[in-house]
Amino acid sequence: MKGAGILENTAVAVARGRIAAIGTARHLLPAFADAEIIDCRGGVLTPGLVDSHTHAVFGKPRFEEQELRAAGRGYMEIEAQGGGIHSSVRDLRARTENELFDLALTRLRALASYGTTTIEIKSGYGLSLDDELKMLRVIGRLAASSPMRIVATWLGAHEIPHEYRSSDDRRKEFHRLLIDDLLPLVKEQGIARFADVFCEPGVFTVEESRAILEASRQAGLGLKIHADELEPAGGAELAASLNAASADHLAAISERGIRALAASDTVATLLPGTMLFLGKPKLAPARALIDAGAAVALATDFNPGTSPTVNFPLILTLGVSQLRMSVAEAIIAATVNGAAALGLAGETGQIAPGFSADLALFQISDARELPYWYGARLCVGTWKAGAPCHPYENLAKLNPRSPEISTAG
Ligand code: NIG
Ligand code: FE
Repeated sequence: MKGAGILENTAVAVARGRIAAIGTARHLLPAFADAEIIDCRGGVLTPGLVDSHTHAVFGKPRFEEQELRAAGRGYMEIEAQGGGIHSSVRDLRARTENELFDLALTRLRALASYGTTTIEIKSGYGLSLDDELKMLRVIGRLAASSPMRIVATWLGAHEIPHEYRSSDDRRKEFHRLLIDDLLPLVKEQGIARFADVFCEPGVFTVEESRAILEASRQAGLGLKIHADELEPAGGAELAASLNAASADHLAAISERGIRALAASDTVATLLPGTMLFLGKPKLAPARALIDAGAAVALATDFNPGTSPTVNFPLILTLGVSQLRMSVAEAIIAATVNGAAALGLAGETGQIAPGFSADLALFQISDARELPYWYGARLCVGTWKAGAPCHPYENLAKLNPRSPEISTAG
């Protein structure tokens, strides 16, 4: 993760949605004489950002919980009293598929406008047979009609819904529903690529998580885990032992967990926006993970409860300023490694011949400005497979930038 391979004065040729060649404009132009030319001078072109962990399909926002936490109430405490995920579940169950689709589409456009071209979206606010399938159908419709690349994850094990919390037997029934009833339908309908579990004390234990994930693997799904978010419960070790595609959160990962991930192919996906928004001082040990040899990805965790941001570059800021990653490490974490966390390492996340032409253009003159102007929207265009995701704004018209913003280059 040391070098991001930054090149200057370089042109990228795109043909049939793929990156065909990289070189100087002088060399490429004669070979692509009919090409439409997009002038990126005065900007930085990166692989389209790969946001490998979101809950982007939801109904209402949950701003009331932010103030409750400010007044001292904990995330799990609000959850236990029927708020948190439960509140999003009640809301989502009451909405139609069309409503959820429209809400999500607007949010996807906002995500794309900050540089994201690939996004993973989880279910997990349905938590009943019909509502989980409804949510996955919405994600499928988004994948078919939004210009972004979308990967669906089944997160039936996001919480134990209220109607199954009255006794241990009822709790077991929910497990049975997930594994015996819902999972076969998810498989049959081909509506998810990954399965995920919220493995956390008070939610799903390591053993429960293992059972759900092993059954999911049997059903042909890749595996992801919400692991060691608030307490070190062994989620990272579980992810490594199952050879999961990713272990996500990890703010409370143990030394053993770090060693287990470093020795595995499981990507450690860090979500520093969540800790910032929850007001938690705990930070995922990005340095220890990278130095031990783990592949680290960054993602937004975009969701109404713990990370309501569509600004992926802001997460890069937190990666550098809070998690002490270098800019190269943060950029790789948001592109190459995000793609690996979605099983797309050979398809997207790199500007290299043969890769899909998933690109983002930023109005900056040095890549280090991307995490630097924190909170700003610097993206002036994104493309997926060569087609616009977020409309391109002509850089030549936008530049030169006002001197108050930057005096560089
Ligand atoms: O990744 N931790 C569990 N799931 C989400 C939050 C979901 C919610 O609060 O609605 C997360 O932070
Ligand atoms: Fe999450």
